[in-house]
Amino acid sequence: MSAVASRTPDLDHVRWHDLECGGYTADLAFWTGLAREHAPAGGALRVLDVGCGTGRVALPLAAAGHRTVGSDVDPVFCAELDRRAADRGLPVAVAVANACALDLGERFGLIAVPMQTVQLLPGSAGRRAMLVGIRRHLAPDGVAAIAIVDQVEPFGPEDAIGLAPDMKDFDGTVYASRPVGVTLVDGRIALDRVREIVEPSGHREQTTDRTLLEILDMATLEAEAAAAGLRVLPRAEIAATTEHVGSQVVMLGA
Ligand SMILES: C[S@@+](CC[C@H](N)C(=O)[O-])C[C@H]1O[C@@H](n2cnc3c(N)ncnc32)[C@H](O)[C@@H]1O
Repeated sequence: MSAVASRTPDLDHVRWHDLECGGYTADLAFWTGLAREHAPAGGALRVLDVGCGTGRVALPLAAAGHRTVGSDVDPVFCAELDRRAADRGLPVAVAVANACALDLGERFGLIAVPMQTVQLLPGSAGRRAMLVGIRRHLAPDGVAAIAIVDQVEPFGPEDAIGLAPDMKDFDGTVYASRPVGVTLVDGRIALDRVREIVEPSGHREQTTDRTLLEILDMATLEAEAAAAGLRVLPRAEIAATTEHVGSQVVMLGA
């Protein structure tokens, strides 16, 4: 009989992250393709994944042979990525670090900031601090790529009726997360979800969760990057899928 890990706040935190972010795969070919394109002939690229979470992007990059550093402000996610990389024997180093104060003491051929992480940073001051850090960590011929969502369609609870929740069974405990609104709140985008956990005993817990994203467009981020001393390169795009909105990607050189 397999041992069932008992729930802890850290385990729930990782499971919600995996449920709500981990299933997104539409951008993985973009990130691994970018790394392949910039790797030296026959060699591995040094890659930094900023805001790596539990490694949705860092692990495939490492599996493709790139020496990857994942950095995140969240120590629980960092510990989980460290464990997953070790389990799979993958070359991932992990650093608990605020994206607004990067000081990793090395330079990278690719710096990736996937999945709107830049929109979680506090306003233009937070973004500028991250961009200055990226400038200091980018190899002379390196490239940085920052994904944003610049178009959202607000909806309320009545529009969300019938939306299927993301659901996953972890060792018999079911986690379900249902989006119930996207609204504008104090100049930011609020993503509201209702989360429910059903334990094998039938015990249920329901909570709400709100993620706040800064409103950001490509031109603003490019202007901020140029002011931080980065070179603005042609933009890229990650296409929308039936389940997920697409992203625009600001591309930057040293
Ligand atoms: C939307 S998740 C994306 C996770 C992962 N990059 C992915 O694509 O699946 C945003 C991540 O950014 C991290 N984060 C938020 N603010 C941060 C900050 N100031 N510095 C570093 N990481 C941050 C969160 O802890 C979370 O792991």
